[in-house]
Amino acid sequence: MRVPDLKDSKRRGEKLVMLTAYDATMARLLERAGVDLILVGDSVGMVVLGYDNTLPVTLEEMLHHTRAVSRGAERALVVADMPFLSYQVNADEAVRNAGRLLKEGGAAAVKLEGGRPVVDLVGRLVDLGIPVMGHLGLLPQSIHQVGGYIRQATTPAEADALLADTMALEAAGAFAVVLEAVPYTVARTVTAHVGIPTIGIGAGPDCDGQVLVSHDLLGLFDGFVPPFVRPYANLAETIVTATRTYMADVRAGRYPAAASAGSSAPGL
Ligand code: KIV
Repeated sequence: MRVPDLKDSKRRGEKLVMLTAYDATMARLLERAGVDLILVGDSVGMVVLGYDNTLPVTLEEMLHHTRAVSRGAERALVVADMPFLSYQVNADEAVRNAGRLLKEGGAAAVKLEGGRPVVDLVGRLVDLGIPVMGHLGLLPQSIHQVGGYIRQATTPAEADALLADTMALEAAGAFAVVLEAVPYTVARTVTAHVGIPTIGIGAGPDCDGQVLVSHDLLGLFDGFVPPFVRPYANLAETIVTATRTYMADVRAGRYPAAASAGSSAPGL
């Protein structure tokens, strides 16, 4: 999957599938399943690192996880989130930080939050050969300003602003845009008005693709899970059950197996 392939997918009406990964093992598994894009989201802060929100995530942490994912991904397009304060201070710093995610992290593209306030930066990154995915609607890096994880673009004026932001990102050269937690009808209108793929999360079925945090999809995160998530597995329960079974076996002397059976692995 390459950046230019995404627009072709939209033209052909093929839905894109993006999931998050933060390590090489998960990246390899998502690859095996055949996802189109792997997002090294700054959601790593919440579902892996134990922060309350995405704001504390640093560029070094994103680089660490992006490198791991890049080692596990071969075919899927790896997109790395630019964390809070890695692109807001000034354009030179933003270029260096975005460049590091490609150069040192091995990502093929970066994602950053915001509309018209960041379009100059998006244009500069794209001109320099750094593909950019936009992120509009609910912006987790702005939760303090917004007041929480609240549905966005719910008034006609906000819906118009969302469309204008998406068109501005497209004009600046963004190759796709995530639409998070906006009304389905608004996402449908935006999707119909732009040539770049929209990738929805809590934005309804009419987007050109969908993204979820893989820990939510797999039932692996024990914190807040947004109401629009449909869990396809309950890995948290599987892990607890497997751990309890192992504990019971160890405590009852059933694991490891007796010496003659256990010594069959040569060299171990
Ligand atoms: O960080 C992340 O995982 C994201 C997705 C929710 C789109 O930005």
